Amino acid sequence: MVKPDGVERGLVGEIIRRFELKGLALVEARMRSVDADLAGEHYAEHRERPFYEELIAFITEGPVMAMVWEGESAVSVARVLIGPTNPAAAPPGTIRGDFGLETTRNLVHGSDSPTSAKREIGLWFGYHPR
Ligand code: RTP
Ligand code: MG
Repeated sequence: MVKPDGVERGLVGEIIRRFELKGLALVEARMRSVDADLAGEHYAEHRERPFYEELIAFITEGPVMAMVWEGESAVSVARVLIGPTNPAAAPPGTIRGDFGLETTRNLVHGSDSPTSAKREIGLWFGYHPR
């Protein structure tokens, strides 16, 4: 998912391009705004964290581009392309390393496991892949 900062900065095309050039296949895409309910479901695992309120405020501040990508080891490959959570520490060549500076506004969300990906596809697109 391209987060609100990435959409606002006009980086959707650049981010899609990187995933496509890597060889992953785009199978769903939906630009939408996010309400507090959807944001809370999406980030339920972080509910008790000190940064939770800031995270929900950020993810609901403007539209996001939610996507489903398919391919060999898609979850781990996507996370390599995205880079570490803190953009200030992310290496150049990664999306966060090339375009980000602060941890909250880190441009992209990537599912952290195939199980999370299935849950999130259900939440964002309303179907459950096998
Ligand atoms: P994401 O879920 O968005 O793909 O990012 P991630 O796996 O790299 O990081 P995660 O630990 O799941 O954290 C989710 C998002 O919460 C914000 N965050 N802020 N201020 C902080 O210390 C802090 N830590 C995390 C980031 O936007 C992070 O992507
Ligand atoms: Mg995460």
